[in-house]
Amino acid sequence: MKMRMKMMFFITCLVLLLNSRSYLAQTTTIRLPDNPGLHSMSHEPDTTPVLAANVTGSVDANGVCQCTVYLPDTTFPADRVEQLEIQASSLLISVEIEIQKILEYSSKIDIYESHLQNLTLRVEFMENSDISFTELDFELVKVEIQELEILISQLKGSLNGSNVIIEQLFVKIHNMSLTINNLEKLDKNNVLIIRREIIALRKQLKECEEARNQTKPTPTQPSIIYGHCDHGPLLNISEPFIVQLNWRGFAYKAGAWGRDPAPVPPKKDLYWQAPLRDGRYMDYYRQYGSFDDLLLYKNPKDYLLASNNLAQGSGMVVYNNYLYYNLMNSRQIRKVDIDTNGIVLTKELPGAALNNRFSYSGTPWQDIDLAVDESGLWAIYATEESTGNIVISKLNETTLSVEKTWVTRQYKPAASNAFIVCGVLYATKTITTRHEEIFYMYDTKTNQDTKISIPFKKVMEYLHGVNYNPPDHKLYVYNDGYLITYDLSFYPKNTNS
Ligand SMILES: *[C@@H]1O[C@H](CO)[C@@H](O)[C@H](O)[C@H]1NC(C)=O
Ligand SMILES: *[C@@H]1O[C@H](CO)[C@@H](O)[C@H](O)[C@H]1NC(C)=O
Ligand SMILES: *[C@@H]1O[C@H](CO)[C@@H](O)[C@H](O)[C@H]1NC(C)=O
Ligand SMILES: *[C@@H]1O[C@H](CO)[C@@H](O)[C@H](O)[C@H]1NC(C)=O
Ligand SMILES: *[C@@H]1O[C@H](CO)[C@@H](O)[C@H](O)[C@H]1NC(C)=O
Ligand SMILES: *[C@@H]1O[C@H](CO)[C@@H](O)[C@H](O)[C@H]1NC(C)=O
Ligand SMILES: *[C@@H]1O[C@H](CO)[C@@H](O)[C@H](O)[C@H]1NC(C)=O
Repeated sequence: MKMRMKMMFFITCLVLLLNSRSYLAQTTTIRLPDNPGLHSMSHEPDTTPVLAANVTGSVDANGVCQCTVYLPDTTFPADRVEQLEIQASSLLISVEIEIQKILEYSSKIDIYESHLQNLTLRVEFMENSDISFTELDFELVKVEIQELEILISQLKGSLNGSNVIIEQLFVKIHNMSLTINNLEKLDKNNVLIIRREIIALRKQLKECEEARNQTKPTPTQPSIIYGHCDHGPLLNISEPFIVQLNWRGFAYKAGAWGRDPAPVPPKKDLYWQAPLRDGRYMDYYRQYGSFDDLLLYKNPKDYLLASNNLAQGSGMVVYNNYLYYNLMNSRQIRKVDIDTNGIVLTKELPGAALNNRFSYSGTPWQDIDLAVDESGLWAIYATEESTGNIVISKLNETTLSVEKTWVTRQYKPAASNAFIVCGVLYATKTITTRHEEIFYMYDTKTNQDTKISIPFKKVMEYLHGVNYNPPDHKLYVYNDGYLITYDLSFYPKNTNS
């Protein structure tokens, strides 16, 4: 039984050997100079080749990347591996023969064991009984015992012989494992490292090629031009930049502010503020001629709307020197000249829900949200027909009539606000009291909507007016009375994600 266990150990040993053999065979695929393998055994194991450092890549006149690799003189001893392979296979045969023997002997031993038991029983029976036995009976038992002795000594002899073979096998296997260890060390010092260096060089070459491909066809990086739509969708939004508290103070938590994207000369710039009284309607609005004036509260121009002309909600916008707003208690859109405060036009937005029916979450009374993008004036609202989902209409600024309408699949009261860039609606939603997310976009050019996730911070809890200004790519946000801005960044043209 001991013998059997020993054999099992050899088999395991051999399997390990065979496995490492195939591993070595794999690593020999690298082509190297045909130097004899044995001399490399004496090669210093600590020579760490710094191949990559010694390689200079270059781009030749035809634009082909080239580099030269100096392979070290040492070689991987393929002949030794072959020897090992032959040794291992002959060992496998020896072990198989020994296993056969063991199986044979063990079956024989079983038979002898049962014979012995039988004989023992018979002898015991004879000893314990009073009956006398004939000489013949004893002779029979004697013969059987002698037979057994001969068989057992034969077995012993052959097993003893196997012992020598096994000892030899032990030595051979030990020798082989030592050689394998040496070979592995040798391998670590050249073949594997060379292979790794070659991979690194290939990568460098590829990078060189890619860099060339990138710089050659587009020598001038296409920069995104402000106020135009030669860019992709929204990429990111900056940290909030706090400008100031609105001029009427902390109590005016709702409202809107912004910058006229197309101020009418001689005006160079036009900043406006529209705080809401009681969080619902605008009576006063203010304009500044420059950002410096706004910051210093200098040269403000204030206007008062008559009580029957009040604006409702934070959806107003200033564009081309006109103020556009939702007339209180109605679905009318009104256009006012910002210098004379005179009413230019009033027009109904057909079907628009009103009076806090489908306002944004956290921002009451903003049923009709007006917006400006690169192409002009838009209305963001909801209707009973749309079951409260956001409806987008392109308006003609001259007539205030609807040019085209799109119905989205986004429930308006689930969004906290929305703005339009290049005909694409972006909707925000509240994550926490300090975080918002641009989570939804609808492209009016393709009629496609997409869920997105562009998180951003806010200073206070609720966003009221959110107005995009195409010429500076900024969002002008009225955040619980504070005027803040964000910078928007966009993907370059022809990239989608
Ligand atoms: C690079 O390898 C070559 C050839 O082995 C050798 O002549 C040269 O000195 C090496 N250069 C460096 C920087 O190691
Ligand atoms: C012992 O062997 C004899 C003949 O070889 C056989 O007749 C007998 O049944 C055996 N007894 C036992 C207990 O196996
Ligand atoms: C078995 O082998 C040992 C040495 O390994 C030897 O001393 C002994 O005499 C051998 N016995 C037989 C029965 O051959
Ligand atoms: C073991 O290896 C040594 C040299 O490494 C050799 O001289 C010896 O003959 C080998 N022994 C066997 C059993 O292969
Ligand atoms: C570089 O450009 C060439 C031809 O313009 C092309 O064949 C090659 O695959 C490109 N390489 C990479 C890495 O893009
Ligand atoms: C987006 O902008 C924020 C704020 O500047 C920044 O922390 C974040 O890393 C940006 N994300 C990406 C994907 O550029
Ligand atoms: C807006 O309407 C006016 C008057 O009908 C028209 O002349 C103008 O072309 C329209 N604008 C656009 C952008 O369609």
